[in-house]
Amino acid sequence: MSKQFDVVVIGAGPGGYIAAIRAAQLGMKVACIDAWQNGKGGPAPGGTCTNVGCIPSKALLQSSEHFDQLNHHFGDHGISAKGVSLDLTKMLGRKNDVVKQNNDGILYLFKKNKVEFFHGKGSFVGKNEAGYQIKVSGTTAAELSAKHVVLATGSSARELPGLPFDEKQVLSNDGALNIADVPKRLGVIGAGVIGLEMGSVWRRLGSDVTVLEAMPQFLPAVDETIAKEAAKVFDKQGLKINMGAKIGEITKTARNVTIAWTDAQGKAQKLVVDKLIVSIGRVPYTGGMDLEKVGVKLDERGFVVVDEDCKTNLPNVWAVGDVVRGPMLAHKAEEEGVAVAERIAGQHGHVNFNTIPWVIYTAPEIAWVGRTEQELKAAGVKYSAGSFPFLANGRARALGDTTGMVKILADAQTDEVLGVHIIGPVASELISEAVTIMEFRGAAEDIARICHAHPTLSEAMKEAALAVHKRTLNF
Ligand code: FAD
Ligand code: NAI
Repeated sequence: MSKQFDVVVIGAGPGGYIAAIRAAQLGMKVACIDAWQNGKGGPAPGGTCTNVGCIPSKALLQSSEHFDQLNHHFGDHGISAKGVSLDLTKMLGRKNDVVKQNNDGILYLFKKNKVEFFHGKGSFVGKNEAGYQIKVSGTTAAELSAKHVVLATGSSARELPGLPFDEKQVLSNDGALNIADVPKRLGVIGAGVIGLEMGSVWRRLGSDVTVLEAMPQFLPAVDETIAKEAAKVFDKQGLKINMGAKIGEITKTARNVTIAWTDAQGKAQKLVVDKLIVSIGRVPYTGGMDLEKVGVKLDERGFVVVDEDCKTNLPNVWAVGDVVRGPMLAHKAEEEGVAVAERIAGQHGHVNFNTIPWVIYTAPEIAWVGRTEQELKAAGVKYSAGSFPFLANGRARALGDTTGMVKILADAQTDEVLGVHIIGPVASELISEAVTIMEFRGAAEDIARICHAHPTLSEAMKEAALAVHKRTLNF
């Protein structure tokens, strides 16, 4: 006898668990199934983001930044410490504790919102007049029947052909977050978001990090001014980034990994490292759901095909997050989860893809929303640009962190903000103001006329807006 639900969500990552909670808030009977296991075989909801993504990477970025500050920058403040040492086991343990707090938090939220949680793998059995039949295999084996199904099964790391992850020498994001001893030589393939964040973590802890990137241009999705500044800063920090690299044969011995590669000038090169992180993008994950039993359509790259409302080709089957088109970001998955729950409830859920912010949590952080200068040029849009360096910001000077700038792009005629690009201290938090302004279709003049507290980094945003009209006050 199967248990009847209004909504069954498969996957408890940020897309799935948020969809489940929102649907329950709207009065529906909701189940959420998730297969992720913690080290003891118990449930660990939160998906990639909580277990091997956003949360643990930010925990290690914070810990390693403290170490770097203590070793290299506290002296500027007149603080010196002798005998600084690293307890990597403790650092990784703290990261695991942070992950567990988040797993437990989600289990608590399920209880609070009366979402029934099933720990195990969810798969389709078929469809009848009661709805879709779903089997849970694992700790809480069960048979469920659902009027609506939300697929939120996320993504997994892409392997290099012929080089499977062993998580000892060849590491995905999972292994990259769990290296037991700081490797002397660390190789990274792919200078994208994970390559830069994880490369930064291990460089700060003492690794000699070499990054090999296929594309000739560094961070092509980022505004060119910001990407250029980032390349300069990372180079100064000692992250060796090689653009235009063509990866050849990769061989492993018990002690190291050797990567044959060709540089941008066509010269054959060899890199020998103790560990290799492969961060060349992620692929949608739909394995084991038996989608063919009901006929859910996938595209040629394996993404679940959805329309702009996250509807699949089947009635009452929805899909959100990394398993569908669009940026692979936790907050994008969450917004889609909320919107789908509201649509199921007959409301008008909405996701504005033009105002989804991006953040790279390096030091300095890089954050942006909207269109880049190169995109506006290519589209023939007439714009005005204004930027303001943190070097001229009082709070940044007081912090001792004056790298970078805020750059604002506004429509030349209407002054509407079209894009905001930041490299600098806590850019991740500063970008929110830009998102809010853009969500309300505000103008650079609006930012310029808003009172910003002094001394704050946010004044750089106001000054960049003033710069759009060539009237900065502090530069
Ligand atoms: P996921 O989080 O992948 O969750 C899917 C869940 O479904 C998993 O728990 C999985 O076990 C489960 N599942 C799959 N199949 C089944 C099944 N058949 N039955 C039951 N359960 C199933 N994004 C940001 O916005 N900010 C960041 O700082 C950030 N940092 C990142 C750092 C790293 C190292 C990585 C790898 C990613 C990072 N991301 C970040 C991306 C972010 O993690 C993803 O965009 C986000 O997790 C996608 O959420 P999701 O709900 O679609 O899928
Ligand atoms: P990515 O798409 O950000 O970067 C992959 C890089 O690898 C690209 O620059 C690409 O050109 C390069 N590449 C691909 N194939 C290659 C090859 N054969 N040789 C050399 N280089 C190659 O992907 P990444 O870093 O794996 O991260 C996956 C996704 O996870 C991100 O796109 C993002 O959506 C998400 N993420 C988000 C974070 C955040 O929001 N702060 C942090 C980490 C991940």
